[in-house]
Parts: sequence; C-alpha cells; structure tokens
Amino acid sequence: MSYENSLEFAQRMDADDPLRSYRDQFHIPKINGREAYYFVGNSLGLQPKSARSFVEQELSDWENYAVEGHFKGAERPWMYYHKFLKESLAKLVGAKPMEVVSMNQLTVNLHLLMVSFYRPTEGRYKIIAESGAFPSDQYMFESQIKHHGLNPDEVLIELKPREGENNLRTEDILSAISEAGDQLAVVFLSGVQYYTGQFFDIPTITKAGHEAGAYVGWDLAHAMGNLPLHLHDWGVDFATWCSYKYLNSGPGNVSGIFVHERFAHDKSIPRFAGWWGHNEDTRFQMTKGFDPMPGADGWQVSNVNVLSSAAHLASLEIFDEVGMEALREKSLKLTGYMEFLIQELSGDDDIFEVLTPSDPTQRGCQLSIFFHQNGRALFDELTEKGVLADWREPNVIRVAPVPLYNSFEDVYQFVHILKTALTP
Ligand SMILES: Cc1ncc(COP(=O)(O)O)c(C=O)c1O
Repeated sequence: MSYENSLEFAQRMDADDPLRSYRDQFHIPKINGREAYYFVGNSLGLQPKSARSFVEQELSDWENYAVEGHFKGAERPWMYYHKFLKESLAKLVGAKPMEVVSMNQLTVNLHLLMVSFYRPTEGRYKIIAESGAFPSDQYMFESQIKHHGLNPDEVLIELKPREGENNLRTEDILSAISEAGDQLAVVFLSGVQYYTGQFFDIPTITKAGHEAGAYVGWDLAHAMGNLPLHLHDWGVDFATWCSYKYLNSGPGNVSGIFVHERFAHDKSIPRFAGWWGHNEDTRFQMTKGFDPMPGADGWQVSNVNVLSSAAHLASLEIFDEVGMEALREKSLKLTGYMEFLIQELSGDDDIFEVLTPSDPTQRGCQLSIFFHQNGRALFDELTEKGVLADWREPNVIRVAPVPLYNSFEDVYQFVHILKTALTP
C-alpha cells in the first residue's frame, strides 16, 4: 500500500472506506466542544449508540415483569441471557459456541481457568509467562503458585526480549518451552502484549507447548475484537478476554472464556463451581452434587449480570454485521498509515521509537511510541489539543486506531498535532 502525507489523501481513503458509516454508530467524546481524536479503544472502547436501548429493554422488562423476567414475558429471558451472546463470541475467537461463554471479569476468569489447568505435580510445575505481563496476570500467577504451596521464583519462567530488543522472538519462546520440557505445566501469554502491541504466534506457541506436554492458555484482553482468532483450530486449551476494550461493551463489563472442546465432557477436571455451571436441566432442583454443564458453560459460577450483558449484546451485533475479516482489512491500512506518518515525522532524529513490531502480521491496531524525553509533557499537550491517547510509564504513548470508528483523517490529524507539539 502506498501512502501520502496529506489531508487530501486521508480524506480520499475515508471516502473509499466501505466501513466509514460505522463511525456514526458510536458516541465520540468531545474536547473543547470538538470531537476528540480517540485512540484509546485498546483501553475503553466507545459507546455504541444502540447500547442504551438494549439496556433500557432490560430495565423495562425488570419494571414490567420483575422476577418473571427470568423465564417469560421478557424479550430475552434472563435465565438464558448468556446464550444470546454465544454465537457472536464464538465467531470472534474462532470457536464452536459450546467452547465459549461470557462470565465474570478477566482476572477472576484467569483464576478460575488456572484452577482447572494449573495442577502442578512434583515433576511438572513450571509456568512460562512474559516478564512484562499485565500486572493483574502477574499477581494471579504469584497467588496461584503460592496457593499450591510453591515458590514463584522456582516456578515462573518469565521471558524477556533480547538485550536491545523490544519484542519477544517466537524462536526464543519455543526454546524456553523445549528447555523447560517435562517440567512445564502451563504456558500462559497474552495474545497481544498490552505495552508493546506485539501479537504472538498463537498456533506455533500452542503447538510447541503441547509437544512439551503442557497446557497452553492466552489472555486475549488486547486481541479480542482486534484481530481474527482461530482458537479451536489452533488447539488452544483455554483463554479469556474482556469486553470493554475493542469490544466496546462499557467500563468493567463482562469477560468471556474459551475452553477447547476436547475438555467439554471431562467432568473430572477440577474447578471452582457454582450453580450456573451446574446442569441446567436439574439446576432448580437444588440438590447436592455438582454436575457440570458440557463445554465452557460448566465453568460458570454465578448467574448472569443482565444489565451489563445487554450493552455487550448491543456491541456484538455490530461485530456480527461487520465481521472480523473486514475490520482487519481496514485495520491493516489504518495502522499502516499511522506508522507511515510517524516514521516520516521521526526522520533521522532520535526523538522517539515505535516499540510495536513493524511487521503487520505481528501486531493489531495499536502502536506504542517510546519517547526518549519529555513524553509526559507531550502527552498532556496532545490531550489539550483534542487527542485521547494512553500514557504508560516510563515514557510510552499508546495509540490504537480502531477500524470500527477511527478514520484516516483522525490518524492524519493526530500525527499533525504530534508534529506541532514536537516543534520547538
Ligand atoms: C492484558 C490484561 N490482562 C488483565 C487485565 C485486567 O482486567 P480486569 O480488570 O477486567 O480483570 C487487563 C486490563 O486492562 C489487561 O489489559
């Protein structure tokens, strides 16, 4: 793709964009009375305009039917609400509907899945993770390991990029896996690294983990709704994600899990159980003895948070309509355009560097820009001038042009504002 550094070019790209009308389906926040250049969909996605009516529907069913809304009267009976989300989630992660379910929140799900898949023995107890994993994942590892009476220093193998590099090489991950060999219990990485934006080679790493006899799981917080995924075909054992970033479902909204079909009927897998994971045919007989539902449903613990799931459903309808392939096609162009403009801006000066891999197959929407100095002041100036981006210590600005609602003009204007801010 050949790009040009001009507003006319950006506007031409927008005019030719088959997804351009989707921007109108979202509320775009304003700064100083003008629509912001919003690049923080990797932190909190924008509100779909349809979310309100979906939530209002449930408020009105609650108003009109109260407890009866669980089974009858209501447009979408609450008892089955998680099922209305299933097909769309399955499409997004490349799974069979029975392999996914929406429930809880991400870190809670990480714990529940580790209870099932991290079952250390005397010989096989090691976990491979990233040294720069999102802190919640790090706390999860530490507490899970201690929960088993083990020492995190002896269990965790934390992978770091090579000296002078920003990203992990697949070959180094594979070497670590084969080195850990039959001591390896679990490989658990993020699909897209939150800090650098690196997209890992999920199928290759999963295959290597399995060859070593380990389970392989993924934190898809930054991958879900960002890139097409094929978890079933890739043979991934388990995964979880959140719905408030690229899935635009609202702050702190419900997470989801994937558990591969091969575990669907294995009732012997240990889990922390609750009534919503119990066989729904006998759930209301209120008897003793947990009988897990087949598939991911058997990992549910509590009943569904319907009000927030309604906003999730509103957003998933948009993904159903657009499809991840079309989103990815635009995303490659949009992030490619941002990279092109940023590289032009950087020239030979050593003001900043992009941490995210330059190979588009190794990244999603996000670019992480490391400023060698004055990053924070620059970030504050960008915000004042209408750019909403994301600041990460010590000196990184993360920007994610999201194909559902960002335009090529947004990208052009952002780099233009950055250029002005960098000019002494
Ligand atoms: C990669 C990653 N993992 C875990 C979390 C924690 O999510 P939650 O607060 O929903 O548990 C986040 C939150 O942004 C994240 O980005």
